Amino acid sequence: MLRSKKTYLSLLIAACAYLNAVAQRSEILLDEDWKFSKGNFTDAAQTGFNDTRWETVSVPHDWAISGPFDKEIDKQVTAITQNGETRPSEKTGRTGALPYIGEGWYRKKLDIPVLKQGQKVLLQIDGAMSEPRVYLNGKLVGQWNYGYNYFYLDLSNEVKPGQNQLAIHLRNMAKSSRWYPGAGLYRNVHLIIKEEKSIDQWGITVTTPVVNKEFAKLNIKTKLSGNNIRLVTQVLDRSGKQVALDTAKTTFGNEADQNIQLSHPHLWSPESPYLYTAVSSVYEGNVLKDVVKTRFGVRSISYLAGKGFSLNGEVRKFKGVCLHHDLGPLGTAINTAALRRQLTILKEMGCDAIRSSHNMPSPEQLELCDEMGFMFLAESFDEWAKAKVENGYHLYFNTDAEKDIVNLVRATKNHPCIVMWSSGNEVPDQFGAEGVKRAKWLQEIFHREDPTRPVTVGMDQVKATMQSGFGALLDVPGLNYRVHLYADANKAFPQGFILGSETASTVSSRGIYKFPVVKGIDKQYSDFQSSSYDLEYCSWSNLPDDDFVMQDDKPWVIGEFVWTGFDYLGEPTPYDTSWPSRSSYFGISDLAGLPKDRYYLYRSRWNKEKPTLHLLPHWNWEGREGQTTPVFVYTNYESAELFLNGKSLGIRKKDQSSPQNRYRLMWMDVKYEPGTLKVVALDSNGKPVAEEQVVTAGKPHQIVLTADRKEITADGKDLSYVTVSVVDKNGNVCPTADNQLNFEVKGAGKFKAVCNGDATSLESFVKPTMKLFSGKLVVVVQADKKGGTAQLKVTGKSLKGGTLEVLCKPGN
Ligand code: GAL
Repeated sequence: MLRSKKTYLSLLIAACAYLNAVAQRSEILLDEDWKFSKGNFTDAAQTGFNDTRWETVSVPHDWAISGPFDKEIDKQVTAITQNGETRPSEKTGRTGALPYIGEGWYRKKLDIPVLKQGQKVLLQIDGAMSEPRVYLNGKLVGQWNYGYNYFYLDLSNEVKPGQNQLAIHLRNMAKSSRWYPGAGLYRNVHLIIKEEKSIDQWGITVTTPVVNKEFAKLNIKTKLSGNNIRLVTQVLDRSGKQVALDTAKTTFGNEADQNIQLSHPHLWSPESPYLYTAVSSVYEGNVLKDVVKTRFGVRSISYLAGKGFSLNGEVRKFKGVCLHHDLGPLGTAINTAALRRQLTILKEMGCDAIRSSHNMPSPEQLELCDEMGFMFLAESFDEWAKAKVENGYHLYFNTDAEKDIVNLVRATKNHPCIVMWSSGNEVPDQFGAEGVKRAKWLQEIFHREDPTRPVTVGMDQVKATMQSGFGALLDVPGLNYRVHLYADANKAFPQGFILGSETASTVSSRGIYKFPVVKGIDKQYSDFQSSSYDLEYCSWSNLPDDDFVMQDDKPWVIGEFVWTGFDYLGEPTPYDTSWPSRSSYFGISDLAGLPKDRYYLYRSRWNKEKPTLHLLPHWNWEGREGQTTPVFVYTNYESAELFLNGKSLGIRKKDQSSPQNRYRLMWMDVKYEPGTLKVVALDSNGKPVAEEQVVTAGKPHQIVLTADRKEITADGKDLSYVTVSVVDKNGNVCPTADNQLNFEVKGAGKFKAVCNGDATSLESFVKPTMKLFSGKLVVVVQADKKGGTAQLKVTGKSLKGGTLEVLCKPGN
């Protein structure tokens, strides 16, 4: 192919510009070769400190997740007043019973090039648990208290050319959390080197003040350092094609303000998460000084009385879940594959929104929500000035709350997924005039930093907030539970809508069913499990169906965030005084990410794309022959017929007689006999349209493995989640199997973790052996960097073993 001189010249210019760009700003992920030790070392900040005997770890890292579980860790003798308790009791497992308390040090050598005049060196930490104190070459160069927040330090005047010693001290106090907070450098750490004349860190703000089908107005504000510079912004569509180009004409102080029209924009929504990229380039004369890429979406949001919430002009209700930040057996160490798996499971359920309860989300989670299509309620605090736990955030509130909100907003504001901020969750400050002032103060900080999104607070003291003005001043009044107060609150509050900021808190254990099948509050059993008939909840909470009624019947309710999408470490209600319970029972899916029955109840409402027909319980009830064993079906079909061993047990149709009858099909008087239980869904003419069955299984015979992904990237981080179950001789799943299994990974990957979702299990997540719980568990295989095939082998006594291969492909 012949190329003209002009083409060669432009290629040359492009190549120079590229090289220049790389030379101007470099961002390095500090993920490998950290030295770590728990403990208090007086001189660990010093350059000469000998850390050769410390463990070498990669970051993100959670120092506590490998355990062991211990009843004594963070044992709290307390009355949890927000749960209505008046007398103290001994709470074990409240924070997961894992060794997160204490001090820890991370050390790393940094090679810094010889800097040109004015070049800047920044260190950004996306979250460190907790109270990070950062030392460079023995000197304290910065600190932050809140373990969930992002912050960066300007080290330009501290670094020297060549080797520098970075040391970070962390400290976790006992009684500092209501759940497992994790420990260590659990999020990413970045080193950024850039020119003096450049774009400030978090200095770009992209908003879309006008959005319609024909065009969108983009406003891009860019904070710049340095004089006599030119800012050029290129807007690229999803395929990388340029759709707009603009050179900034006006600057206000150090801020350039660009207004750009995009014609026929692709709008961002959960159903169509279209992302554009703004490429901001800074020039001095013709020399490229800096380039920053910002992904954004074009979307509009509004919250209006009488209308509720609209995205891109269309009214919709949040089908959301609350998530704590831990990733089950991986602990709190951020991993993109683990986060993506969670979101994939939630997407399949039809969920469209996430609330990061009760703190700042990780950047990776927000990026995935942008890409995969989830709206996001980004929360900041679980405590303000009044304490929930002895050493909680109230210790820092007065000094840190403003800067914590500032960093939350500045670091995350360009994510289209974020549609609302939350300044707090069930803060005891809901009582009293001081609390109202705090609510106003915090909301105004959010407004100042981001005038485009509203602010909510998850309120549980609804009556108090109705009287004090607390609820009335919020942009979005969020109610945690208390469906019985929704109507009163909506009357008392002037906004004209209510958000179910936290709903349900129904408890269940995957695959466990209790008899008789009756509704129960704070129900406890001797095995410390809760029933998967989904009729058990807490004194302050309710059943999913009660929320569905509000969502369906009240146009002024703008959606819900269910507590919680997944089980999490800590807060083992209703067994918070019952050792060895150490993780939650609230999840729609368990701690291993395996769906509980409730998953299908939400799916039957939320997933409009695919039908749901789910039958429960399992059908292995040796010893219950002839006894009443109710059968529930979670389905989007209106009616269905149930058959036991070919005999019809009648047709059930959803009706309005109770919330349960409205959303579930229930056969309450089935007498158990082994065999085949089959449900046939019927259309409005009574014609069969789908069927599902469960079969009584025989003895466990063979191990079966299924991977969520059989091809992963050989980057030392990517994960394949392998679900392990056992089947009988005829291939029927054994739902009660509890065999002890062993795992071995060979080849291009390693055994990373295992979890069976049993909230009472004290087996380690990081040792390659575990018992099945309700017939299942999940093994996590991690790719190494060499590429090839990783083979997982699972064995168990008297069982035919299983093997599975995961292809670990070299990345880009
Ligand atoms: C809420 C609280 C959550 C969790 C939940 C359990 O009151 O906001 O953090 O504790 O109860 O039901």
